[in-house]
Amino acid sequence: MAKVLIATEKPFAPAAVNSIKEVFDNAGYELVLLEKYTEKSDLLKAVEDIDAMIIRSDKATKEVLDAAKNLKIVVRAGAGYDNIDLDAATANNVVAMNTPGQNSNAVAELALGMMVLSARGGYNGKPGTELKGKTLGIHAYGNVGKLVAEIAKGFGMKIYAFDPFINKEDIEKDGVTVVESAEELYSTCQYVSLHIPANEKTRKSINYNLLSMMPKGGTLVNTARKEVIDEDGLVKLMEARPDFKYLSDIAPDCKDTIVEKFEGRYFFTPKKMGAQTAEANINAGVAAANQIVNFLEKGDTTYKVN
Ligand code: 3PG
Repeated sequence: MAKVLIATEKPFAPAAVNSIKEVFDNAGYELVLLEKYTEKSDLLKAVEDIDAMIIRSDKATKEVLDAAKNLKIVVRAGAGYDNIDLDAATANNVVAMNTPGQNSNAVAELALGMMVLSARGGYNGKPGTELKGKTLGIHAYGNVGKLVAEIAKGFGMKIYAFDPFINKEDIEKDGVTVVESAEELYSTCQYVSLHIPANEKTRKSINYNLLSMMPKGGTLVNTARKEVIDEDGLVKLMEARPDFKYLSDIAPDCKDTIVEKFEGRYFFTPKKMGAQTAEANINAGVAAANQIVNFLEKGDTTYKVN
């Protein structure tokens, strides 16, 4: 009987855990839960005898993968897999997967939610502004970027996108104007919503120069990863531009400086909240469970990332 661990420092909604359990019950697998753990040692102990593992932003480091002697597959229930050491997974003969698209709507709704919150000054009773007619730049037009565009259209925003990996025609079909460079996107748009992954090429790539191109009242919306921001550049820019705002799903490392110096010009979630809805948890969790069963039973490696 295969043994599967759900290791979630930030737990799934209970309904999602029930739905995941149903998938494994039907397959005749044993399910073990490790939720809200605070010590790495708890994770290291929990992985000792498991065959498969579902994680969220939990870190599947070399140490964890080395300790999981029977592990055959780890599925990140979500999009970004920068929390899995892919080389260590491959070295340990472990297949790593993600569940692309399954939590995208929740993230897209949060991006727009943060924009409305900011435009209305955090609902502070003073006159705010509207999103209608404003320019929105989508930086990377993947599953989330596409949905942000769709929702923003409903708000009457003018939408632009930059994504060198997607056919121009496929983006334009959505009524979105394609620009040729990040520089063009940032200099055109009052709001920029970030959807790039965190990797060697993108780390700290959103820097002072790029951000300084944004028009007056520029607002950067980050539901991607904090690592893609050059935080020194961000602070320098916020110092130079009292009109600039930064909204982020999870606080940057320089949170204290921003909180101290730039009152009213930031919003940070206390934990990564983009995908934290019951619907997204069910979609991503059940997809992860099915991917595990399909891999262990049929060798299906769809969505393998290593
Ligand atoms: C993702 O990459 O899918 C999101 O960042 C969601 O992360 P979470 O599962 O930790 O909420």
